[in-house]
Amino acid sequence: MNKNIVLIGLSGCGKSTVGAALSRRLKMLFVDMDTYIARKEGKTVREIFEENGEAYFRTAETEAAKNLSEIGGKVIATGGGVVLNAENIEHLKKNGIIVFLDRTPDEILQKLNLSIRPLLAENKEKLYEMDAVRRPLYEQSADLSVRGASSVAETAEKLEKAIRPFLEQN
Ligand code: S3P
Repeated sequence: MNKNIVLIGLSGCGKSTVGAALSRRLKMLFVDMDTYIARKEGKTVREIFEENGEAYFRTAETEAAKNLSEIGGKVIATGGGVVLNAENIEHLKKNGIIVFLDRTPDEILQKLNLSIRPLLAENKEKLYEMDAVRRPLYEQSADLSVRGASSVAETAEKLEKAIRPFLEQN
C-alpha cells in the first residue's frame, strides 16, 4: 500500500485505537497526528490549547497534515477537528484514502474518557454540537465510511475489509 489510510471522525470515536490495530493488521506504520503535534511542540495537546490557544493548535495541525502527507504507507489517526480546514483535507487526500470512522455521540459518550479531551471536558453537549457541524464535513471529505463496531478488533477488521478494494488498486 503506497498511500496513507487517514482516519477521520468525532473525538472519541476510536481513531487512535482502531488505527493502531489496523496498522498492525496491514503491517503499515501508525501515526497519531495529535501525538505527532505534541512531540513537535514538546507539550500535550491539552497544554497547547491552554497555553497557546486553539488557533495555534490549528496552525500546527495544518503543518502536520502537510508533512505527514509527503510520504504514503502509513495509517494516520487525525484529531476530530481536522475537517474544519479544507486545506488539511487537500493535503491528506494527495497521498491518502480518507476513511470516516462513524460513531454517534451517544455511542461515544458511553465510553469516552472526557478528562483528556480539552474541548469536551467541560461540556458533554459539545459533542452533539460538534456532530451537527462536523458530520457533513466528515461525509464530504471521506472516500469511504465505516460504522464503528462493538470492539476495537472488530472495527479494525471491518475497516480492513472496506479498504481492501483500495489496497488492490494502490
Ligand atoms: C479536537 C479533537 C482532539 C484534538 C484536539 C481538538 C477537536 O482529537 O485534536 O483536542 O477539535 O475535535 P481527538 O479527536 O483524538 O479527540
